[in-house]
Amino acid sequence: MRQSSSTTDEKEIRETVAIILQNFSPLKENLIPILQSVQSAVGYIPQPAMKQVASFLAVPAGEVFGVATFYNQFRLIPPGKHPVKVCLGTACHVKGGNIILEEWKRRLGIDEGGVTQDREFSLDRVACVGCCALAPVVLVEEEVFGTMSPSAVEGILLRIRIEKERRSGCGGNEE
Ligand code: FES
Repeated sequence: MRQSSSTTDEKEIRETVAIILQNFSPLKENLIPILQSVQSAVGYIPQPAMKQVASFLAVPAGEVFGVATFYNQFRLIPPGKHPVKVCLGTACHVKGGNIILEEWKRRLGIDEGGVTQDREFSLDRVACVGCCALAPVVLVEEEVFGTMSPSAVEGILLRIRIEKERRSGCGGNEE
């Protein structure tokens, strides 16, 4: 019998989380590092993963959910196809990272932690990504954009749109 893709996804998530949990002792103080590892491997914290972590730490699932929702570093829904991460570490914050974040929110029409309706973009704030000399910094699909300005946001979106059209063969070849 063929499994549905969501069942397969859940199975993969369970296996990934099981591997991650092998690196931790079942201590409550490991909850945040475990959730960070899950997010880094899966891209977000799925509900089944929360239950799995809760059972590993022998704490109520509600407690894991509470921590995952309390910290805005954790994403509870899958990221978009082009995840946008705005650095708000100290150097980027000082150089106007918040203004850049506001511009992304305005341009994408979503808030932090959100995903656009077409699931193309998601938006998150992140802590220092290690390129402070380039502050303020934004990552789009792990590509680093340094010395960002609000007007550069539109340029990045335009570039992604053009690349998408080129890949789909809708680039409008003019003779
Ligand atoms: S604070 Fe943004 S890269 Fe370091």
